[in-house]
Amino acid sequence: MTDKNRVLLFDTTMRDGEQSPGASMSHEEKIQISRIFDEMGIDIIEAGFPIASPGDFEAVTAISKILKNSIPAGLSRHSKKDIDACHEALKGAPRFRIHTFISTSPLHMKHKLNKSSEEVYESIKEHVTYARNFTDDVEWSCEDGTRTDMDYMCKTVELAIKCGARTINIPDTVGYTVPSEFTKIITTLKNKVPNIDKAVLSVHCHNDLGLAVANSLAGVQAGARQVECTINGIGERAGNAALEEIVMAIKTRNDLMPYTTGIKTELLSKASKVVSNATFPVQFNKAIVGKNAFAHEAGIHQDGMLKNRNTYEIMTPESVGVKQTSLVMGKHSGRHAFKEKLTDLGYVDVTDDVIQTAFGKFKILADKKKIVYDEDIAALVDDSMVQDKNLINLKSLKVFAGTGEPQRAEMTLDVYGEVKKTSETGDGPVDATFKCIKKLYPHDVKLLLYQVHAVTEGTDAQATVSVRIEENGKTTVGQAADTDTMVASANAYLAALNKMIIKRSKIAPQEQEHQKMKGI
Ligand code: KIV
Ligand code: ZN
Repeated sequence: MTDKNRVLLFDTTMRDGEQSPGASMSHEEKIQISRIFDEMGIDIIEAGFPIASPGDFEAVTAISKILKNSIPAGLSRHSKKDIDACHEALKGAPRFRIHTFISTSPLHMKHKLNKSSEEVYESIKEHVTYARNFTDDVEWSCEDGTRTDMDYMCKTVELAIKCGARTINIPDTVGYTVPSEFTKIITTLKNKVPNIDKAVLSVHCHNDLGLAVANSLAGVQAGARQVECTINGIGERAGNAALEEIVMAIKTRNDLMPYTTGIKTELLSKASKVVSNATFPVQFNKAIVGKNAFAHEAGIHQDGMLKNRNTYEIMTPESVGVKQTSLVMGKHSGRHAFKEKLTDLGYVDVTDDVIQTAFGKFKILADKKKIVYDEDIAALVDDSMVQDKNLINLKSLKVFAGTGEPQRAEMTLDVYGEVKKTSETGDGPVDATFKCIKKLYPHDVKLLLYQVHAVTEGTDAQATVSVRIEENGKTTVGQAADTDTMVASANAYLAALNKMIIKRSKIAPQEQEHQKMKGI
């Protein structure tokens, strides 16, 4: 890296991000996400934790082979088996990074590792040196860095660099630090570690106190030149620093933070959407990518905006790829126009089958709804993409609701190619609908979340339903949209269930190892 103000973006959406409850992504979703990240200009993509599960290993292997610009990375503990697995999974890429880590705080060394600081020091020597046998791009992280004794951190960082690490990452693993303290940590490393100029300093901040982005930016201002982050800020517990917020803060306040990134910001909104479809919805008021991030409700704001956009807008929606809501198409629009609209909305990798299904749904929707917005079309395509991969699909649903009688649902499902019918009553229409699914495909999952949002305004708006379910400690999320909330509910439940079935079959043999990893 020659430009001293260039900040590298290291994305860990598919590793740390996937560790958040309900955020597990399918193999296909990870491939789709990687392609967008690659196009968007992310420098390094941490594609997974190869030893953790066969699914992670396969994903890192596949992603390593498709990236054109980004460098793939894999995570490993200080274990030769972990490092070997990383190398095996990454070796299909022309360049790759092995990211190895160990805890250095007194608390973690004693209670988690049961190792002395001398033993941890020796382990760094052994494992960073070992990783260097496979690549000269080795990153070393001192887990729980912000609760580590500063002199000890300086010693370990110096050693890791001496053993060949080219990136030194300082994680705020439990989201405990504040900007002034983090500035001090990075500054001390810069001033006290004699060989620090031989490595890029990196920051990795968690959001437990809502300070992940502020701490990351403080780290950059103190001299860090790599930021580890995730799209939509997903990650362990309260998440990681949000990539879109870091990038747009640097771009918008370049007067105070004169740094550059390689990110094509116009793709941020699309990346956010693809990640939220695979994981869970983004809160409406989320900075940069929330539905309301560029909406102006108050009359006084709208008036100012009409006179001069700068009055209440510090960046344009277009700069992050948000197009103004537009009335797009009606029931007379043809397949060709529909396909063009999809490209316009950023759907480039969509299969013909998905287009066909989405177009059919669009025609039905255009018949029902006066105005079809871009958001409606996006919801239809997202829905069709999920259904394209489903093992169990909804064929038909009738729900009888209202006062006076028990609510009842009649359902037909395609279960692995076999058409099955049933009718059930329940405590409300949603309960009756979900009971039908349970009857036709007996299973035992816990419903953790059921949430309904309107895609656009008006009583004829499509409803987007999100469902999160749990089985043996594993969670999956499903989303679906329809003008009929019950149909959306059934499809969202089925999407989560289909993901659970795939997950079950993929990781069963190494489940114990996997659970152990994810609990780090
Ligand atoms: O938060 C953390 O400490 C991590 C490390 C593995 C880098 O995710
Ligand atoms: Zn982390």
